[in-house]
Amino acid sequence: MTDPVIAVEHLSKDYPVGFWRPRPYRALDDLTLSVAAGEVFGCLGPNGAGKSTTLKLLMGLVTPTSGTARLFGVPVSDVASRARVGFLPENPVFYDYLTGEELLAYYGQLCGLRARDARSRATTLLDRVGLGAERRLAVRRYSKGMVQRLGVAQALVQDPDLVILDEPMSGLDPIGRRDVRALILSLRDEGKTVLFSSHILSDAETLCSRVAILAAGRLQAIGSMTDLVEFSVRAWELVLDGLDEGARGRLQETGAMLTSLGGDRVQAHLPGTVAPESLLQDLAARGVRVLSLQPVRETLEDVFLKYVEGKRRDVPDGGAA
Ligand SMILES: Nc1ncnc2c1ncn2[C@@H]1O[C@H](COP(=O)(O)OP(=O)(O)OP(=O)(O)O)[C@@H](O)[C@H]1O
Ligand SMILES: [Mg+2]
Repeated sequence: MTDPVIAVEHLSKDYPVGFWRPRPYRALDDLTLSVAAGEVFGCLGPNGAGKSTTLKLLMGLVTPTSGTARLFGVPVSDVASRARVGFLPENPVFYDYLTGEELLAYYGQLCGLRARDARSRATTLLDRVGLGAERRLAVRRYSKGMVQRLGVAQALVQDPDLVILDEPMSGLDPIGRRDVRALILSLRDEGKTVLFSSHILSDAETLCSRVAILAAGRLQAIGSMTDLVEFSVRAWELVLDGLDEGARGRLQETGAMLTSLGGDRVQAHLPGTVAPESLLQDLAARGVRVLSLQPVRETLEDVFLKYVEGKRRDVPDGGAA
């Protein structure tokens, strides 16, 4: 078996809080997980769950209180672990008197590219994140979403094998989010490993091979969508037109709850255990029209709420480290 790209073992982080008598505040508690090459891994959790802390620990921006983390088998305390890693921080801030193109070319040169290669890489990346038309515009004139896109481009400057993105969809409009989703999938198709944090669950649902759910600094659940989400049908929602008394009786036999939607329309909520096929045939025979039939399944959002609810903690008081 090949080594995992990210290997985290019993990782914890305490921040000192309070000015006069600083005491430790545990932002991350005993996190163990590993991410294999080629995975798109989502780190999910509510505000203050410890997502950014985890990513910062991997990037060597904060030091762990205990535990270990390795990237490509190299401990994160060694800068060499990040030779093949690109990073988008939570709220990227750039030197904004440069244009997007100049800025990316500058980062490219910092990563060892020659001036000409750095410039052509900058142009390609700006096109890739949808900023081709703004490449000659000073970054201070960029909108929030444009800065975020520039941040994603910046994470890709050195053509990394592992891309770590803290809230990559933050500040983006629906088109921007769709673009970043497509970009993450194209990185996956190129064989890169992606770790990103988010509280937008639908993004994780479509992108991730696995997710970890953090709350109050602790890992609450980890696995693939199929591991975490119950795909069995919990209920059926039907919208029907033209019910007579007989049809109502037939529906009530199944344990359906009926709600009038006005006119002849009725919504029926059926238990998931009911097989709808024979019911639909009976209703059709009575002249009932079925306007819609929808299975109600558990979503990642339900799972998320199940693990996260009641796990919020008080925000630490006093000054930061
Ligand atoms: N430098 C710091 N000093 C003190 N406490 C901190 C520091 N950085 C983070 N914390 C605290 O650690 C906890 C975890 O913060 P973290 O930024 O990792 O959360 P997050 O999951 O990224 O949240 P969000 O979704 O809001 O970005 C929070 O309670 C936060 O207040
Ligand atoms: Mg964060």
